[in-house]
Amino acid sequence: MNILVIGGGGREHAIVDVLSRSRHADKIYCAPGNAGIAEKAECVPFKDTDVDALLRFAEEKHIDLTVVGPEAALAVGIVDRFRAEGLTIFGHTKAATRIESSKEFAKQLMEQYHIPTAAYRSFDNYKEALAYVQSRPLPAVIKYDGLAAGKGVIIAQSLDEADEALRDMLLDERFGQGRVVIEDFLQGPEFSFMCFVNGNNVYPMPLAQDHKRAFDGDKGLNTGGMGAYTPLPFITADDYEFALHHILEPTARAMVSEGCPLTGVLYGGLMKTKDGIKVIEFNARFGDPETEVVLPLLQTDAVELFYAIAKGGNMPSLQWSDKPVIGVVMASNGYPNGYKKDFAITIDPQYDGILYHMGTRREGTQLLTNGGRVLMVISTADTLDEARRKVYRNIEYIHCDNLFYRRDI
Ligand code: AMP
Ligand code: GLY
Repeated sequence: MNILVIGGGGREHAIVDVLSRSRHADKIYCAPGNAGIAEKAECVPFKDTDVDALLRFAEEKHIDLTVVGPEAALAVGIVDRFRAEGLTIFGHTKAATRIESSKEFAKQLMEQYHIPTAAYRSFDNYKEALAYVQSRPLPAVIKYDGLAAGKGVIIAQSLDEADEALRDMLLDERFGQGRVVIEDFLQGPEFSFMCFVNGNNVYPMPLAQDHKRAFDGDKGLNTGGMGAYTPLPFITADDYEFALHHILEPTARAMVSEGCPLTGVLYGGLMKTKDGIKVIEFNARFGDPETEVVLPLLQTDAVELFYAIAKGGNMPSLQWSDKPVIGVVMASNGYPNGYKKDFAITIDPQYDGILYHMGTRREGTQLLTNGGRVLMVISTADTLDEARRKVYRNIEYIHCDNLFYRRDI
C-alpha cells in the first residue's frame, strides 16, 4: 500500500515508525514530516490543513491509506473531503471531531449520557459568567470553547483572576469568538486513556501519563507535554475497568447515537479523584507525547489495524507488549513562549534507544532545531526505574546549545 501520514511532530514520527514495520507498507509519505521522519518516509511540504493540496497529492500518488495526526486537520474536515472522493482515511469526521474542538459539545454529551465529569455551565455573556463564578467555590476552571492547544484553560484562584480571564475570553476577543465553559475544580493525578474506535467498537491502548508543565516539579507554563511514561503504577485494575466500561465505551456509543461515529482515536484525558475517575477532556486524535511511548509497544500490524479502524472492516487481534516505556522531551529554551531555531544538534553513536523527532530539519547533513519541542528520547526496560535511568543516560549523548528538558519524568 501507498500510505500518507499527515503531520510533522513526534506523534507522527511514532506513527510512521509503526507503519513502516508493516508488511503491507510499500511507500510512505509524510506531510510535512521532519528530519527524523525523513529516514522512514518521503516528506512532502504540505501544510496539515491544506486539504486541497493533500487531496490532489493523495489522488496523484494513488494513496491507499491516509493517517491524520493533528486535530487542526480533522477540525477543518479533511476526513470528510477524502471520504467524499472514495479515499480511505484514519481519523474522525469534522462532526465527530467536535468532541475535542468544542468543549461545550463534549460537556453536553457527557451530561446527556451520564459520563462522569466536573459540573459545568457555559456562557457567552460576561456578566452572567462572572455571576456564576461568584456563586461557586474557588478555584474556578475557565475554558475557552474552541481549539486552543491546551492554552485556553485558566484555573482562577481568586475572583480577580477569574474576572480577568472572562474579560479576555468574552470581551476583548483575544481568543477570537467568545464562549466559555466554567467548571468545578477537580483534584487528583491525571492520565491519558487512548482507544482505537470504529463506531461502537473500542480497542484500548496501554495507559500513559503526560507531564504538561515546562519545568521540574510541575512548575512553569502549560506546554504540549514534556514527557510521558507507561504503565501507570497508580491505576488499579478496577480503575481501568471503570474507565473503559463507564467512560470510553459509552462515549463511543454516544457518538454513534448522535450521528457522528468515531473512526480513529478517542483520547480520554482522565483524572483519578477521590470520588472516582472523571473526564477532564476528550481529544479526537493520538496524544502527543503519549503516542511516542505507547505505539512502540504495538505488536499488531499497524497498517492492518489503521485500515480496519478507518474502514470498519476485519479487525486484526490487537497485541501489546507490557514493557515499561519512558520518553523525555527536549525543547527549545523559551518554549512554550517564543524560542529561536536553527541550533545544531549532534548525537553520539552510543545513543541506544528510540529517538523521535518533534521539530527538526536537516541542512545538508547537519541536524538543526526547528520547533518548540525538538526531540523525544525514548527508552524501554524491564522496570520503569531502569527505563528512566536509560533515558537520562541517552540524553547525555545529545548535544545542542539551546535545549532543556525535565529531569523528573
Ligand atoms: P484541558 O485543555 O481541558 O485538558 O485542560 C488543561 C489542563 O487544565 C488539564 O490537563 C488539567 O490539568 C487542568 N484542568 C482542566 N479542567 C480541570 C478541572 N475541572 N479541574 C482541575 N483541573 C483541570
Ligand atoms: N499530551 C496532551 C495532548 O496530546 O493533548
